[in-house]
Amino acid sequence: MGIDSHTIQELKSRLDLGEVVRRYVELKPASAGRFMGPCPFHQETKGSFSVNPEQGFYYCFGCQASGDVIDFYSRINGLEFRDAVEALAREAGLEMRSGPVDPKAAERRERKKACLEMHRLAQEYFRSLLRGRAGKAARDYLERRGTPSEVVENFGLGCSTDDWQGLQDFLRSKGFTPEQGVEAGLLSQKGETGRTYDRFRGRLIFPISDVAGKPLAFGGRVLGDGEPKYLNSSDSPIYKKGEHLYGLHQARPTMAKTRRALLTEGYMDVLSLHQFGYGDAVGVLGTSLTTEQVKRLAGFCGRIDLVFDGDRAGRAAALRSAEMILCQGLTCRVVLLPEGKDVDDVLQAEGTEGFEAFLGNAWDGLEFCMDEMRSTGSAKEVMEWAKRFLGGLKEQDWLAWYLPRLAEGLDLDEAVLRRSTMKVVHPAEGRREKQGGPAKPAGKLEKEGAPGDRHLLAQLLLHPERWREFAKRDYDAVFTTEWARRFWEKVVSSGAEDVDGCFHLLDEAEKRFVGVVKNELPSLGDEEREERWNDCGSGLERRLHNQHMQQINTALREAAQRGDQEEVERLFLVMNELCGRIDEQPEGNPADSGTDR
Ligand code: UTP
Ligand code: MN
Repeated sequence: MGIDSHTIQELKSRLDLGEVVRRYVELKPASAGRFMGPCPFHQETKGSFSVNPEQGFYYCFGCQASGDVIDFYSRINGLEFRDAVEALAREAGLEMRSGPVDPKAAERRERKKACLEMHRLAQEYFRSLLRGRAGKAARDYLERRGTPSEVVENFGLGCSTDDWQGLQDFLRSKGFTPEQGVEAGLLSQKGETGRTYDRFRGRLIFPISDVAGKPLAFGGRVLGDGEPKYLNSSDSPIYKKGEHLYGLHQARPTMAKTRRALLTEGYMDVLSLHQFGYGDAVGVLGTSLTTEQVKRLAGFCGRIDLVFDGDRAGRAAALRSAEMILCQGLTCRVVLLPEGKDVDDVLQAEGTEGFEAFLGNAWDGLEFCMDEMRSTGSAKEVMEWAKRFLGGLKEQDWLAWYLPRLAEGLDLDEAVLRRSTMKVVHPAEGRREKQGGPAKPAGKLEKEGAPGDRHLLAQLLLHPERWREFAKRDYDAVFTTEWARRFWEKVVSSGAEDVDGCFHLLDEAEKRFVGVVKNELPSLGDEEREERWNDCGSGLERRLHNQHMQQINTALREAAQRGDQEEVERLFLVMNELCGRIDEQPEGNPADSGTDR
């Protein structure tokens, strides 16, 4: 299903940004129709998160997070753009336009709703069991493990009895059939007889929730020994293994403060970490870490500290996880525990002090990866790993940072590594290569536009009515940085009518730029805006002029070298004419190619 800019615009017009943000952030009215609140994306003592429902735009004065309603929704829920659009479109009752209308969509929606409701009920059921007489064994178990009641409450723990029908009967009393319970993953079904029964029996129950705290699945631990030790919900319409993190809802507020996530493997590890004051702890839930999970965390923090068993398997898992985290643009540290121990063991035995000692010895993520590779990999493997790592970077610009570090740390020749990486990573660069000159080495890629470019872009973004006219120009020549060129290319090729229509195509830095522009410049009066555009226009003329002059200069030199007198004279004439024109331009300083003043 394609998503076109009309769909996006229609979707945005149906959604109230204020309402969506309020689900996660407490907003207070501020001036000019805006609302302010604590930013959910960084540590906040005062509210620097500004929401303008009228414009459909949010902006944080603290961390510069900014965007529209889709951006907010995907960031806070760790969703890909497309998935966020789909979810919001469902909410807004909007059929996605392209592709045939799916007659099953409404039915699927209903099923998901039922699953959510059954999980809500099941959690209530499990919790009340833990509080009551039937919960004695589970309560004793928790006490033996040293889990205090605040943690039990905070994580909504419960328990199930040995009864094979308890939850089934409870759900039935609330109007849900056994078939629905099976679909939700709460009940199991015997193949031959078709008999349905409770999936979780005689277990301590850990609800697995979404970031808003709604239970989507459960994990259940046997009380004592038994197989399997942990039984987890299977995939259902509302739960997919590898997409969620245990404790994300509880950890979110602290994560926003520390900007870090402590990532561990087990349910009990997460509980113990919270118990001992590490409120930013989350668990991976029994699989190896997935990109979805990293993206989900990336909405809240910039660093992930991995806590792993120091045995072989643990180190291998840490390597894979660290690599994935770094490639997604987060920093990472690796905390290795003594072989065979987990965080829960350490904390319950030695308390915070014991754990802090390991934290203090944490590896830097990249150092750890390189050390692992150096000590376990063959030359071929090291090289392959480096290439894969560099090829996996989410933003190509990061090569500039990683290439020299990997080369140094792995004892590889930087030029060789760069060459083989460029082959793997940037087939698209070939296009530019054909057009003119060799591709720029990654190390020299400009990250952000020069001030002149930024100024011009800002004016363009604010004046979509001028886009058509501007697009006719050879903008490739007007912008001086690759960043600005690419930005503008995206805008033009999207076919959108204004920046809202193509916002979803922009990367983080570009979105931030739009945020700044939108929040700073609209306060100008119409007249002042017009003036700035005019400034910008004359600057543009000057820039094009300078470029033209340079070209003529080069051509002149070449013609003179060839001894082509006729061409030299013609070019002199052209140059004279151009110079005459620039004299009429304000501030005609040929050395200045910027427009920002
Ligand atoms: P561990 O076997 O290390 O258990 O599995 P643990 O977390 O230390 O459990 P306790 O302390 O004995 O209670 C680590 C994690 O792997 C997943 C669970 O998420 C568990 O917390 N796991 C483990 C399962 O999903 N199923 C299993 O049978 C075992
Ligand atoms: Mn354990």
